Amino acid sequence: MTANELREMYLGFFGSKGHAIISGASLIPQNDPTVLFTTAGMHPLVPYLLGEPHPAGKRLANRQKCVRTGDIDDVGDVSHLTFFEMLGNWSFGDYFKQEAIAWSFEFLTSKSCLGFSPDKLSVTVFRGNESAPRDEESISIWKSLGIPESRIYALPMEDNWWGPAGKTGPCGPDTEMFVDAGKAACGPACRPGCRCGKYFEVWNDVFMQYNKTEDGRYERLRQRNVDTGMGVERTAAMLQGKATVFETELFAATIDAIESSSGKRMTESPETARAFRVVADHARSAAFILGDEQGISPSNLGQGYVLRRLVRRAARFAKQIGLKDGFFDPLARSVVAGYRRFYPELAANEERIVKELADEEAKFEKTLSRGLVELEKVMGQMKAHGQTSLSGRVAFRLYDTYGFPVEFTEEIGRENGIGIDREGFEKAFQKHREVSKQGSDKAFKGGLADASVETTRLHTATHLLHRSLRMVLGEHVAQKGSNITVERLRFDFSHPQKMTEEELRKVEALVNEAIAKKLPVSMNVATMEEAKADGATALFTGKYGEQVKVYTIGDFSKEVCGGPHARNTGELGRFKILKEEASSAGVRRIRAVLAPPQV
Ligand code: SER
Repeated sequence: MTANELREMYLGFFGSKGHAIISGASLIPQNDPTVLFTTAGMHPLVPYLLGEPHPAGKRLANRQKCVRTGDIDDVGDVSHLTFFEMLGNWSFGDYFKQEAIAWSFEFLTSKSCLGFSPDKLSVTVFRGNESAPRDEESISIWKSLGIPESRIYALPMEDNWWGPAGKTGPCGPDTEMFVDAGKAACGPACRPGCRCGKYFEVWNDVFMQYNKTEDGRYERLRQRNVDTGMGVERTAAMLQGKATVFETELFAATIDAIESSSGKRMTESPETARAFRVVADHARSAAFILGDEQGISPSNLGQGYVLRRLVRRAARFAKQIGLKDGFFDPLARSVVAGYRRFYPELAANEERIVKELADEEAKFEKTLSRGLVELEKVMGQMKAHGQTSLSGRVAFRLYDTYGFPVEFTEEIGRENGIGIDREGFEKAFQKHREVSKQGSDKAFKGGLADASVETTRLHTATHLLHRSLRMVLGEHVAQKGSNITVERLRFDFSHPQKMTEEELRKVEALVNEAIAKKLPVSMNVATMEEAKADGATALFTGKYGEQVKVYTIGDFSKEVCGGPHARNTGELGRFKILKEEASSAGVRRIRAVLAPPQV
């Protein structure tokens, strides 16, 4: 079964169980400062897990593109990926454990679905601790479905609890499903979760019934929810009897393109296989990030920085296997060709993807040659002082600042009779890794789990700002990103040049006039087409006929949006623009605040 067939079968199956099929969200989170990328299917749906009604109902299913780069340095093994797809079914206060687990089991094992033998399934459940009890209910459901106790593992919170992306938010115990890949156990401690490649995790059913609070407590949510996530790549690998995700058809065209450009075979040696996987994974992620509805470009900040790292890391490994300048072109095109049916945004942005990759690769080449000059300078000084060992700190600086692979430094050092302190390098590298992990998991206050008065008001102010920008600058202004914390809003929009002082003053005045008029904010549910026909601004191309929420602010603005919003603009306070600056080529960024309303 191909991944395309898997996606269709999954959505068809849950459609037949009364689920509305909704489209996935952008990879770039909207109105959410807690994460850089959409890291799981639940992420864009947080408000509905917390009780906000979803316009499409209480039972939904979707597929979601996700990016996780916390483990980027592990990519290259058999299963780590920075981009992956998740299939999910959702209950917002509707069905719970019984139905969720029984349907997972049916979809995995039924002959008319995936047809895995139940004998090959192992599951894990939450063992319980002082915050929440052992998940006896899931254990007994699995048993009733015929999974013997010997293949039900009760594990601690690190393994079987899905926590919020930010510090606070919906969470709960989960039950994970593993398919036995058929290898022998690597030892007596081998169990689901072991990395030897015997147990492949394919699905995770999360029972979200708690909210993690600011002070670290778990309080019960008003509604009990189900969030499930099935990994497309891993499940496809198991269905196709492959030992790694890189052997599925999802990567075949890209691997072929690498083989024919490099003249090497992936299976030549473990190092070659690793380099192939890194290049294939990073090229796919980069193509999806560049081809996203929100169109991020490489930069030194936030998402743009992650993208830059992916491209440069791919370029480094590409050198190892002898790929030449311009190698991204056929790889990116293979990704677009393979995914265009399900992700038309890739096809629409194909030329941009290819061009940005080529530009970034060229910039990286320049940085590398500057690094070479630096390295030669350092070596010259060392020779003058009779030193023969380059410090790990310097090797790391060359790596970090110039993208200079330590293997290159070593090779050039060898030619000059200079060794590298590898241990010192590894230490500096580990330290950097911890810091960047903290960076990528950094949780700001605010985000989708936050429906505080402050963020709600800023949401509404963002709509007023969007409309005012279009009035002052023209209808070419389109939202390119929005990010709201408790303290401020940040809004990215397309506009070719810096705004003048006068334009900024006009926009500010228009927003404040709309606030002074105390305009009512109302919401109605409509299909995407109806909303558009009604003149609403819509960010994304939703699925045909999809139900969406339309927020109307007096006669001033109408936008498709998930909310929540203030009830009346009179609640907002005084709007003030703090800064207007470039965000990337053709995109401007405004930061603004609301002074507390006068009472
Ligand atoms: N949130 C869970 C996960 O990402 C299930 O969707 O694994």
